[in-house]
Amino acid sequence: LDVLVLAGGLSHERDVSLRSGARVADALRDAGVGAHVHDVDSELLTVIDELRPDVVWPLLHGSTGEDGSIRDLLELLGVPAVGTTSAGARITWSKPTSKTILGRAGVATPASATLPQAVFREVGARAVLERVVARLGLPLVVKPAKGGSALGVTVVQSADALPQAMVSCFSYGEVALIEQAVTGVELAVSVVDLGDGPRALPPVEIVVDDGAYDYDARYNTGRTEFFVPARVSAEVTEAAQAVAVTAHRVLGLRDLSRTDLIVDADGTCWYLETDSVPGMTETSLFPLAAEAAGWDLPELYRTLAEHAAA
Ligand code: DAL
Repeated sequence: LDVLVLAGGLSHERDVSLRSGARVADALRDAGVGAHVHDVDSELLTVIDELRPDVVWPLLHGSTGEDGSIRDLLELLGVPAVGTTSAGARITWSKPTSKTILGRAGVATPASATLPQAVFREVGARAVLERVVARLGLPLVVKPAKGGSALGVTVVQSADALPQAMVSCFSYGEVALIEQAVTGVELAVSVVDLGDGPRALPPVEIVVDDGAYDYDARYNTGRTEFFVPARVSAEVTEAAQAVAVTAHRVLGLRDLSRTDLIVDADGTCWYLETDSVPGMTETSLFPLAAEAAGWDLPELYRTLAEHAAA
């Protein structure tokens, strides 16, 4: 089996993607699979043509990697790929869209407002933000409607802090999602789907030294403690896994995904977002959950590649 791993590319999550790509390729080689990593550029079509891989594994996080465009290209070329279809990627990449779909499927998700930057120019930032605070209250979480790795995300405790949070957010995209902040246990639930239905892995509980699971806490080891399985009841574990499986299904995902949620004091699981290309770095959550479920990572990655190639 020959796998072409796509990593890097031009997105805010380029570095994370290069780390994910290198880890997966090393693991595939450990499993006896031929793996080549390509840092995606204008040579992509030539590389595919020359290598003629059995399957491509796009490990591109962020924009072109997760917005469906790279998958559109692979579908057009008729090259099998690990992971979601382009349609699934596109839906999942938009947090307001995925929240709406999950809400319709009966899953709790924090109340929110979606604000394109243009609205600020047309109506005036102060008036818009006053309305948002009046409707949603405080604290709030400001995040790019499309984005990953917590880039451009700010937890806002007071209305005074909102304008600066909006500026950070708009540096990553033109649309902001402002959500009510839910306090509770932060969980990530990964899903593996090898053709016999999506199966949730054990939830990973995330505990950060200062509470903010930001970019630094995600990728620089030491600031974050992970508990897997999470220190929650069997009922909460089951409910969180059900949310992740529902998300995987209703968003139209394939092969693997990861859903992030918060469990409040009442045990309600609040859906935050789903990653159709979950991080695979040494500090990422999907590999941690897979190992906790008893998977040998090289074997799991080989199985996912074989399944996609079949
Ligand atoms: N978007 C990154 C890679 C993650 O959350 O895993």
